[in-house]
Amino acid sequence: MECRELDIQFGVDYYPEHWPRERWETDARLMEELGVQVVRMAEFSWSRLEPEKGRFRFGWLDDAIALLARHGIRTVLGTPTAAPPAWIIAENPEIQPMDANGLRRHFGGRHHDCQSNAVYREHIRRYVTAFAGHFAKNPNVIGWQVDNELGNSHGDLCFCPSCEERFRQWLREKYGTVESLNEHWGTVFWSQDYSDFSQVTAPRATAAGQNPSQLLDWKRFCSDLVLEFHQFQAEILRAAAPDKFITHNMMGFSEKVSYFQLGDKLDFSSHDQYPGGHFREGQNELRADAQAAELDFIRGTRQKSFWIMEQQSSITGWEVLGRAPKPGQLALWAMQSAAHGADAIVFFRWRSCAVGTEQYWHGILPHSGVPGRSYREIGQLIRRAGPLLRQVRGALPQSRAAIVFSYDQEYAFDIQPHHPQLTYVDHVMTYYRALFRRNIPVDFIREEEDFSRYQWIIAPLQYLMYPELEQKYRDYVRRGGNLVLTMRTGVKDAYNRCMCQAPLPGGLSDVLGLQVPEYDCLRETSVEIQWDGRTYTGEKWSDLIEPTAARPLAVYGSEFYAGTPALTVNRFGEGRAYYVGTEMSPALADRFVEEMVSQGLEPLASTPLGVEVTRRVSGNRRWYFVLNHTGQTQYVTLPPHWIPWDGQRRSTLPPFAVDVYTEEEEEA
Ligand code: GAL
Ligand code: ZN
Repeated sequence: MECRELDIQFGVDYYPEHWPRERWETDARLMEELGVQVVRMAEFSWSRLEPEKGRFRFGWLDDAIALLARHGIRTVLGTPTAAPPAWIIAENPEIQPMDANGLRRHFGGRHHDCQSNAVYREHIRRYVTAFAGHFAKNPNVIGWQVDNELGNSHGDLCFCPSCEERFRQWLREKYGTVESLNEHWGTVFWSQDYSDFSQVTAPRATAAGQNPSQLLDWKRFCSDLVLEFHQFQAEILRAAAPDKFITHNMMGFSEKVSYFQLGDKLDFSSHDQYPGGHFREGQNELRADAQAAELDFIRGTRQKSFWIMEQQSSITGWEVLGRAPKPGQLALWAMQSAAHGADAIVFFRWRSCAVGTEQYWHGILPHSGVPGRSYREIGQLIRRAGPLLRQVRGALPQSRAAIVFSYDQEYAFDIQPHHPQLTYVDHVMTYYRALFRRNIPVDFIREEEDFSRYQWIIAPLQYLMYPELEQKYRDYVRRGGNLVLTMRTGVKDAYNRCMCQAPLPGGLSDVLGLQVPEYDCLRETSVEIQWDGRTYTGEKWSDLIEPTAARPLAVYGSEFYAGTPALTVNRFGEGRAYYVGTEMSPALADRFVEEMVSQGLEPLASTPLGVEVTRRVSGNRRWYFVLNHTGQTQYVTLPPHWIPWDGQRRSTLPPFAVDVYTEEEEEA
């Protein structure tokens, strides 16, 4: 079941167990009045649902589900495995996770569980089997969420003996023999050869240095373990209730588990969207691009519409707080989720909690329970956008450009960032942001995706390269695609070993029409780049490029390689291959996107900085979302054939306002 098959647009995350029963009726009535159609519950309620081993107390949850149903509200239930209760920990303290120093993480927060531990799996099997069996026949329960934000657990998952043993099994399956492991991990270096798999360890803290091939496999293993942990529960839920959907609340670019592979196992993906941040920088218009990217990425996990399972509903914060959302901002953020492909938006949380770690992660209702500004603003949003979301269900942006996203590349740069400030996601974002500023829709795709669906493929940091991927890029350009490759392409093989058969960028040299015999890590400096007589900046890295056939677009303007190419383009077959030898500053990235536009990549509309335009397309119908992320009135000129979806066409957009337009394409 995909989410476009569900007629649900708005919901809330609800924790009835945090409040006296006498309040539930008021909550349900206020929800109904707000337009809430669904709640998610129970993903942290293990101690109240199984207070003692095998003694299940599902009655209160039955009552809450029934009460909400009387108000027309349906339920998604979560399994509570991100917070095993104290009695389980007392019985089996060994299920608490171990950090890289071999120390246990203890009870008292959440995520105090090891995901490979066999004893914990038995607790989970008992609970989930009873839980799924009990709620399977309840027609008001429409779907499940396994655990909560899988991968949001520990710094680097768990290093306990159980996980270590699972790692060894994973390696046995991958390499077959210990000789093969030695070869692929390069254990000749520093005398790391193994004579038996039993000698291999989880990469705990070492005295000095670590093996990059071991670390890469460890990260892949951790992702696989989380996927298997999910499947373990999902199979129990599916078997008990084949008619209910399974989704999961992902966290944008969080990297612990491959969301592409997780998405494959779900009916649809969900995402938790907190523009106000998780104690990161404060909320302001400048995060609009990062928010947009996370939404596009979640859509990319299945190339389908999705749900927001937690959408910010007020001030965020645990020990320290973020800013209060300004009038209009909550609705703007929710509309941005819809603008990028959300079919339903569930707000976190219904009411600010009086107790526990998240007392200051505010809900729609304040602590007092008396409806205030968030309730009013979200109510207005629901009344306006409910009919819109119903129409756009399943509609997608129809992007002509895609960014290839790879967890393996990210892992490899986590392990060896090269430059202290280089991160994979930030580098990818230099491209995304420039496209975002021009309102050019873009999809995130995995390497396995069919490239031929796109006219433009941007593949940043293709550092780990292997023959099949190389062939895909080659074929894509040969058949007429526009491919953008970057610094650090073709450096290593899939085992994190440097490739030595040819100068960089290896097998794609002829496609790009160049070689990279040298490079320079820009420590505490940047490099000038000249393009058409203007000066820009490259950061963190310079590839020293020797064209064999490529035409320089821009050259370095400083350093000992001044005058040599920094960005190039090469005709290969029917297509074009670009190479970007540095991390582009925003102005340089803008200039680069200008080049793409001049080669036929069309923006949806031209708007002032801070005003975003997106598109959703279904059949011959298109919806355009125009979002003012700034606190100022903005003036926009939109294509005259766009028809206002509601209200009047206007060229002045008040602070944080969202306008929606439609367009019908002539039938061919
Ligand atoms: C999410 C999580 C919720 C809640 C929220 C606020 O990441 O799924 O359970 O913790 O953040 O911190
Ligand atoms: Zn473990």
